[in-house]
Amino acid sequence: MTGWGGVIAAYGHRLPVTSDTPIITLGEGNTPLIPAPHLSALVEREVLLKFEGANPTGSFKDRGMTVAVSKAVEEGAAAVACASTGNTSASAAAYAARAGIGCVVVLPAGKVALGKLAQAVRHGARIVTVSGSFDDALAITIALSRRHGVALVNSINPYRIAGQQSVAWEVADALGRAPAVHALPVGNAGNITATWLGYRAVGLAPAMWGFQAAGAAPIVEGHPVARPETIATAIRIGNPASWQGAVAARDESGGRITAVSDEQILAAYDLLATREGLLVEPASAAGVAGVLANRSVLPDGVVVCTLTGHGLKDPDTAIAGMGIPEPVAATPEAVAEVLGW
Ligand code: F0G
Repeated sequence: MTGWGGVIAAYGHRLPVTSDTPIITLGEGNTPLIPAPHLSALVEREVLLKFEGANPTGSFKDRGMTVAVSKAVEEGAAAVACASTGNTSASAAAYAARAGIGCVVVLPAGKVALGKLAQAVRHGARIVTVSGSFDDALAITIALSRRHGVALVNSINPYRIAGQQSVAWEVADALGRAPAVHALPVGNAGNITATWLGYRAVGLAPAMWGFQAAGAAPIVEGHPVARPETIATAIRIGNPASWQGAVAARDESGGRITAVSDEQILAAYDLLATREGLLVEPASAAGVAGVLANRSVLPDGVVVCTLTGHGLKDPDTAIAGMGIPEPVAATPEAVAEVLGW
């Protein structure tokens, strides 16, 4: 690979890999840290957006998947398996295809955005949908992968958490210090856990601000949510696997984990698209929604928000209520008439 060689090439010295580890990479990481002038003016802080949609499969999951699939291959696994709200399955399917091993994904039926399904299907994963939640799918996948000896690549796999720390290292490298606040959405809670561990590993300590969707906010409420519901399907999770890691990130960093409503998420989603020029998926806007909702308690200094996944993942939400115009004659006059020119 020319230029950037992916997360393991860049940060292998901090990762559980050796010279014997076959590196399965798609060139993940090195995502842009984009200034957000409109948001910055709104919250009166410098806000920078870590655009994880620029990863090869369109989400932050690739950072951990390169490590998890490389280790699975090193350990001789014939296949990987995961439960997913969509992005983990898209990433697992792509890295498994690259490695030439099998991939099984277990998904909550009817609750995975179209683009993510398209990825898993086209990369050749075996897909099972269950009439249940992500939490049900994860419990099933854990049980079956033990029985069948395939490598589980959900974020309870420590290699996933290891690789996902790299987002913090990139922010630290770019800023030369910690931001005051690092905000992000919280679903299964692997990412807030990993981002915090990444900062800690290099001696930095931003306040970690995590945001759950109000209908799927077990950490905020202090108990699992049996039937989580939110427009942000990626974080529609009632019993996060990395619950303790998220609480540790919050408490050790002097941060917060609170809830944002679907309305607040969609308002931030819209603001990112129309004012900052960035299309993200709804879950990815939860961190920005949280910063806006909590702006009165922002400390001084730079605010970094992880935008976890690309908006093209979820075209249905992007287009909902927008309306595609009916065609007119293919003449300048007809088009000018529509435009009122
Ligand atoms: N944002 C997006 C776009 C996600 O896909 C996820 C998780 C999160 C945020 C939350 O991250 O789980 O580490 O707290 N998606 C998982 C999946 C659950 O299966 O793709 P988390």
